Amino acid sequence: MTDAFPSGPETCELSPAAAKVEPTAIVIFGATGDLTRRKIVPALYQLSRQGRLPDGCAIFGYARRPKRDDEFRADLLAALEEVPHIRPVSREAWEKLAARIYYVQGDLDDPSGYARLRDRLAAAPEAVHFGERVLFYLATAPGFFGTVAEQIARAGLAPKASGPGPRRLIVEKPFGEDLASARELSRALHRSFPEETLFRIDHYLGKETVQNLLYFRFGNSIYEPLWNRRYIDHVQITVAERLGVENRGEYYDATGAARDMLQNHLFQLLCLVAMEPPASLEAGAIHDEKVKVLRSIPTPASSELLACSVRAQYGADETGAHPVHAYLQEPRVKPDSLTETYVAWRLDVDNWRWSGVPFYLRTGKALAQQFTEIDIFFRPPPSVLFAAVCGMRLGRNCLRIRIQPNEGIHLLFNAKIPGLPVIQRASMHFHYREDFARYLPEAYERLLVDALTGESTLFTRHDEVEHAWRLVDALRAAWSEEKRGELPTYKPGSMGPAEAEELLARDGRRWQPFQYD
Ligand SMILES: NC(=O)c1ccc[n+]([C@@H]2O[C@H](COP(=O)([O-])OP(=O)(O)OC[C@H]3O[C@@H](n4cnc5c(N)ncnc54)[C@H](OP(=O)(O)O)[C@@H]3O)[C@@H](O)[C@H]2O)c1
Repeated sequence: MTDAFPSGPETCELSPAAAKVEPTAIVIFGATGDLTRRKIVPALYQLSRQGRLPDGCAIFGYARRPKRDDEFRADLLAALEEVPHIRPVSREAWEKLAARIYYVQGDLDDPSGYARLRDRLAAAPEAVHFGERVLFYLATAPGFFGTVAEQIARAGLAPKASGPGPRRLIVEKPFGEDLASARELSRALHRSFPEETLFRIDHYLGKETVQNLLYFRFGNSIYEPLWNRRYIDHVQITVAERLGVENRGEYYDATGAARDMLQNHLFQLLCLVAMEPPASLEAGAIHDEKVKVLRSIPTPASSELLACSVRAQYGADETGAHPVHAYLQEPRVKPDSLTETYVAWRLDVDNWRWSGVPFYLRTGKALAQQFTEIDIFFRPPPSVLFAAVCGMRLGRNCLRIRIQPNEGIHLLFNAKIPGLPVIQRASMHFHYREDFARYLPEAYERLLVDALTGESTLFTRHDEVEHAWRLVDALRAAWSEEKRGELPTYKPGSMGPAEAEELLARDGRRWQPFQYD
């Protein structure tokens, strides 16, 4: 039979009914904090403006400092005016949302605050619409997560086994600080919120470019046959940050790059690159495949972990127009700290598809550029013809998936320079902003809609989190056995320490340099 549309229809809507939000009360714990002001409320504003937050939704902020509703609204508006992708705020859109925003003053471990919250939920004019539907958002310090869930339950606001609802809970990162604490936290939350009502955020998963990894891999037929050890030489995943620790020295010094970035964002990206096709697009099927990838990464022995990883701290740079302090001189960082601001790690995914293909992961602060990228390097062509002459200078084909900024996908290949017998790297580009000339939603917009509709694909399941901690715990244990007096340093504004270059050079490879495609 011939296909009437040999190249297929131009668009295909996968889940037309998926994004319908029911009227819901959204309760934000930590309502006066940075995350609420910079991410959560801007996302709610955008959703409301786009008509995706029904009129029956209401927002309840909960924090300690005393405030009236009108003061809280004014503070949020002032914060909204500072958000670059939102400025200028539409007065009409804001007032429509602000009329449904309320503030409840209370301590996170004081039951009387939760009683006040319960009363305000019941008394709000929107209560006739949202009824028992509540989405709680834990935008507080992680030490409070278990307490808040318990207090919610004591106030009679936790999900009920049957009857009206649903009641759901979004939990911010970090989820635990190691495997034991992550397990303990899941146990504590599960006492009041069953796993299907829990939404653990890794905001990377809400990024359009990260979601597209699945569409790109499994919605096309040209790459997937090559997506294995026969054709792929190695994979590089980079999450580079340009800023240092700024005013978060205390938090960062107790955390470090491996726990702050590697355990969550980098492992999630690795899973999406390496996973098998899921049995369906349902959340459970996708989580199952991600867990299989993590289970295929054996816990290496300490000696191997030390040989395959690099940790470092940024040093000082007094030369530029904006001098940078060394990490050890940053406010609220211990002067003899061994906390890493940079980590690179070579990992093996030991399964049928990937055996022998190294995955190189790196992340760091105070680096040359702010970008997140996945580079898939294909094997070189046979050493005859061009490769025989050019050797290592014949660039490997590379598929570059730019997660941010300038989101896109680029294929790098070799081509002949016209008029000269010379081979040079050429490229084919796809840019989200050019090819789809439309607003690229912020991750928190998508994640809020999904939590409101009970769609958990873009959140992390407890076993994914635990496997990632197993690996990061092993790495950190190997580091702590190493008994170093100090860590290697790298120059701020560089792409990391020389040791990270050597890690790849030992394997005859090098990190893909950043290019603003
Ligand atoms: N900020 C970000 O960009 C970001 C990014 C990713 C993840 N996160 C995560 O999001 C969470 C919140 O971070 P954040 O940066 O927004 O923190 P933050 O700015 O320090 O805000 C903390 C909030 O918790 C409230 N709070 C603290 N102690 C309280 C208590 N005993 N009772 C009641 N409320 C209390 C504070 O309000 P009062 O002082 O008024 O009580 C404030 O509203 C953390 O888990 C963090 O790891 C943040």
